[in-house]
Amino acid sequence: MSIAVCPGSFDPITLGHLDVVRRARRLFDVVVVGVARNAAKNALLLPEERVEVVRAALDDDPDLVDVRVEVVPGLLVDFCRDVGAVAVVKGLRGGADFDGEQPMALMNRHLTGLETVFLPGDQRYAHVASSLVKDIARHGGPIDDLVPPVAAEAVRAAVAHRA
Ligand code: PNS
Repeated sequence: MSIAVCPGSFDPITLGHLDVVRRARRLFDVVVVGVARNAAKNALLLPEERVEVVRAALDDDPDLVDVRVEVVPGLLVDFCRDVGAVAVVKGLRGGADFDGEQPMALMNRHLTGLETVFLPGDQRYAHVASSLVKDIARHGGPIDDLVPPVAAEAVRAAVAHRA
């Protein structure tokens, strides 16, 4: 049985992320969505909120059986070893994403030999980024066609109470 991990900050999960998880599931028997901390980013949603939102978004999607959601408590390579994953799967919207992802992929392979599989992002979501979703929400703009409904609600609530 092949297991892959789709890691990310998911602050919040977007329709682009969901597309990558769905396509990863066609390649691997089990996909574990790993909600991790990116030390370079200041998160809007709390870790437990991000996990809850990702779980709720996946529950709404009948294509996503054998996909589970877990917190990545430390290094991604340790998490992948613990869940028995043979690869990490990440989506790339373009060259800027590759420039950011390549050092992490090379470092993960350096650390434990963990391989990363890159999937080209679907063009429908090429403009969709969690950071832009948060910026639009902070300014009262529409985010409902960029993220699952449960994520839109969580972002609007967090912006209203924390921003
Ligand atoms: O969605 P993001 O922010 O692009 O995802 C980046 C993430 C969270 C996958 C990355 O920062 C990560 O793997 N964090 C866990 C800690 C870790 O393993 N850091 C070393 C990476 S080489």
